[in-house]
Amino acid sequence: MRVIIERDYDSMSRRAASIVAELIRRQPDAVLGLATGSTPIGLYRELIRLHREEKLDFARLTTFNLDEYEGLPAGHPQSYHHFMKDHLFAHVNLKSKRTHLLDGLARDAARACAAYERRILKAGGIDLQLLGIGGDGHIGFNEPGSSLAGRTELVLLHPRTIADNGRFFDRLEDVPRRALSMGVGTILEARVCLILASGKNKAEAWARMIEGPISAQLPASALQLHPQVIALCDEAAAANLQHIDRYRHAAEVLADQSLLPANLKRKRARRRV
Ligand code: F6R
Repeated sequence: MRVIIERDYDSMSRRAASIVAELIRRQPDAVLGLATGSTPIGLYRELIRLHREEKLDFARLTTFNLDEYEGLPAGHPQSYHHFMKDHLFAHVNLKSKRTHLLDGLARDAARACAAYERRILKAGGIDLQLLGIGGDGHIGFNEPGSSLAGRTELVLLHPRTIADNGRFFDRLEDVPRRALSMGVGTILEARVCLILASGKNKAEAWARMIEGPISAQLPASALQLHPQVIALCDEAAAANLQHIDRYRHAAEVLADQSLLPANLKRKRARRRV
C-alpha cells in the first residue's frame, strides 16, 4: 500500500485528480469505479477544471459507481445518481450510456446486483476504483461484519453510517436503511484502488485500515491484500498513523515516480457470475 499524506483537503483533492487524470491520459478508454460522499467532491471539482481548462477528455471512459440507496429514485436529491450528475456527469463529456449506477428502485435487487457484476466484467473489469472510508471502516456500503469476499448485493446500513449520512437529509428518519453496494470482493478485483480520507473523524479507521489486522470488523483493512492501493489522505486523517515517518520517507524517495503501475493494459476479466 502506498500511503501519501497531503497537507489539507484541497491538496489531497488535487493530488487525487492528478492520479485519475494520468490514468485517463494514458488509457482514454479506461473503466473507472466512482464513489460519492463528501470526500471526492474536491477531486471531481478538479477533474471538471482539467476538462475545461486542459481538455481532459472523458468521452471514451466507462464508469461504475460503488453503491446506491435502496428506495430512492434517480431524481431524488439525495440519490447517488443525483450526486454524480451534480458533481461530475453534467460538467464533463462522459457518455451517459457508459456511466453505470445501481438501481435503488430495482424490484429484484439480487438480480440487479448480479447483472451489475456482469456489466463490469463485460467492460473488462475496473481499472481504477475510487473509494472513501466510513468512520466505522466501511468501503462502499460494506459495513463491519461484511464478508471480505462479498459480491454486489443489497446490504443493511450500520447505525453509525445512518447517523453520519443523516447530515444530507432533512430528518434522520429519511435516511434509507438499506443500499445496493459492490462487495469487498468486487472492489478487490479492480486493478488499482485509490482510497481517500480527510479530517480527524477518519483518523482512527484510517490507521486501522493501514496498520491494523485484516478483519471483517474493518472492511477497508481488506485493501492490505490488494497489490495496488494508493491510500491518499490529509494531515488530519493521518493523525493516528504509527509509522508516519516511513510513509513520508517513501513518498520523498519515490516522488518522481508515477503512483500508477507501469503497465495499465487491461486483461479481460475471467470470472463469470
Ligand atoms: C460512497 C461510499 C461510502 C463513502 C464513505 C465516506 O459511494 O461508498 O463508502 O465513501 O461513507 O463518506 P464521506 O466521504 O461522506 O465521508
